[in-house]
Amino acid sequence: MNRTLSVPGIAYGGDYNPEQWPEEVWAEDVRLMREAGVNMVSVGIFSWALLEPAEGVYDFSRMDRILDLLHENGIAADLATPTAAPPAWFFRAHPQALPVDHDGRTLSYGSRQTFCPSSPAYRQAALRIARALAERYADHPAVVMWHVHNEYGCHNAACYCDTSAQAFRSWLRARYGDDLAALNDAWGTTFWSQWYYDWDEILPPRATGAVPNPTHQLDWRRFCSDELLSLCRAERDVLREAAPEIPATTNFMVMYNFDALDYWRWAPELDIVSNDHYLRSTDPESEIDVALSGDLVRSLAGGRPWLLMEHSTGAVNWQPVNRAKGPGELRRNALAHVAHGADGIAYFQWRAAKAGAEQWHSAMLPHTGTDSRIWQDVVRLGADLKALAEVRGSTRTAEVAVVWDWNARWALELPSQPSEEVRYLDLVRAWYEPLWRSGVAVDFVRPDADLSSYRLVLAPSLYLVDDAGAANLTGFAARGGTLAVGFHSGAVDENCHVRLGGYPGAFRQALGVRTDELFPLLPGESPGLSGEVPAGATATLWSERLRLEGAEAIASYTSGVLAGVPAVTRHTHGAGTAWYLATRPDPTTLAGLLDRMRTEAGVEPVRTTPEGVEAVLRRGADADYLFLINHTDQPAEVPVSAEATELLTGKPVPGSVAVPSGEVAVVRELRGGS
Ligand code: GAL
Repeated sequence: MNRTLSVPGIAYGGDYNPEQWPEEVWAEDVRLMREAGVNMVSVGIFSWALLEPAEGVYDFSRMDRILDLLHENGIAADLATPTAAPPAWFFRAHPQALPVDHDGRTLSYGSRQTFCPSSPAYRQAALRIARALAERYADHPAVVMWHVHNEYGCHNAACYCDTSAQAFRSWLRARYGDDLAALNDAWGTTFWSQWYYDWDEILPPRATGAVPNPTHQLDWRRFCSDELLSLCRAERDVLREAAPEIPATTNFMVMYNFDALDYWRWAPELDIVSNDHYLRSTDPESEIDVALSGDLVRSLAGGRPWLLMEHSTGAVNWQPVNRAKGPGELRRNALAHVAHGADGIAYFQWRAAKAGAEQWHSAMLPHTGTDSRIWQDVVRLGADLKALAEVRGSTRTAEVAVVWDWNARWALELPSQPSEEVRYLDLVRAWYEPLWRSGVAVDFVRPDADLSSYRLVLAPSLYLVDDAGAANLTGFAARGGTLAVGFHSGAVDENCHVRLGGYPGAFRQALGVRTDELFPLLPGESPGLSGEVPAGATATLWSERLRLEGAEAIASYTSGVLAGVPAVTRHTHGAGTAWYLATRPDPTTLAGLLDRMRTEAGVEPVRTTPEGVEAVLRRGADADYLFLINHTDQPAEVPVSAEATELLTGKPVPGSVAVPSGEVAVVRELRGGS
């Protein structure tokens, strides 16, 4: 069944928590929602304690009134199962459902998401409230989507209790075909006398005296992601049973600081993919993070539009210092998410809380009320999104793919690696940035994805790769594509076993190189590079004693212990080309290399724009929608087709469009127009 969102145009709204306010406030809420053009809100996310005051006893009266009020005002509801915040009574009745942390401490209730994902009592209670809600509201005209749980794993991605240990063992038995010898082999348990003779000897990787086994830790991360996924699926099935036509989503967290879930495994389970994204206060160019996460979420959604389920109008409250947004930033952020494929924009939350743990978090309606810049921006954004209604459903096409893999990220960041300084997201972002700056459209792919529609495939960091993934990537090059691989890739297989015979193991042959020893660089150490790179080029973070086995050297070290050794190579592999970046070049050099690769591969930017003006294209049935986001303090002028219209102003922009500093333009260009 094709379950799609029935809200017209671009969805706009936020988390709505009216239970935090006296009912007389609700009328003002819906009046202001209408004023701002809000057409969908997420309700009930943390309402469990009010909906089910005692086990099996329900009070739906408040939710009835909220949903009726929303419907009367033409506002749709994304109704949440409240299972992220079990009530106090639940934990008093089921204290064994409390999670145990890595160090063996049992955590207490009194916050949210403090439950053990493997607890049978939790599962039963969660499915009970989900079923009760679904049965009551399946036919309510306001309800257009189920919001399953909230941010699975945000606070409880792993629980180390005995129940979890039991569940982990069952998961391992399934993975290793009930064959303990296979597990011992995969985990390399002859090392440090870790051999297991009985499944019951296996524990979660709890705090221990020295470094735990890497494969044990990696399987644990896989298990934790799957365990939460099984809860999500179970809730979804209960909802579908009661309301087969209502689409279900759960809000992902494709963000810099969250890596607990393998969303490639999650996304196919949902009718609509949605994501939460927040800016990092210390990131001077958070617009790049917005774009990267948007492209990743769109790719998770299989190229289909997705929903931005949460972001902030201003400051959050959970970073050391919480930066408010600058002039126009709220609008640029939101429209950038739309540019990268979102068909809905929502915030945490509608009305700023007066009490509770998030009282200093921004909202659509700030503490100050409507006499505020945030409110003005919120109203303006509502009008913008209305003007972009026709963009809904349009897609993006890219000729460049960046390989993204949670298993590789987890494995790379395990302890006892050659360098703790190597961080997965930093590497991916470093390669993504120059493409973003040049206006090149990018998809993210799994290592085993169908790559036939791409000209250039980049694997900035793929420490772990299985044979099939490696063969897929090198096969892409052999068939004529351009492949670029970052250092320390292909090093281990899916069990974290080193690929022998020289680095970068799985890619050595395709890249035409062989490394016999790794030389991670210390912070501050940056040997020079020379060759086909700009004068003054340097390397940081990593180096390798690499020898050419068919490849040509594009750049070599000019100083340090590896002076004269190649650092960047290029190899003809079959009908294509395979590049190896055995270090992290300085940003200008990296940008130059990526520019060369994409030019040689025949990849063009979607539009050439002045520096700092982001250009993103969404393709509709009959028209292209060119989003131009001016992140600079200078006005810009961008050439467009002769019959173009700027949608936010509704004005024709024949041949060229002005994008004032800090502003956004969305230009409709009819397909086949001049
Ligand atoms: C999200 C969460 C919201 C709210 C928000 C604050 O992680 O889903 O409920 O806490 O963060 O930024």
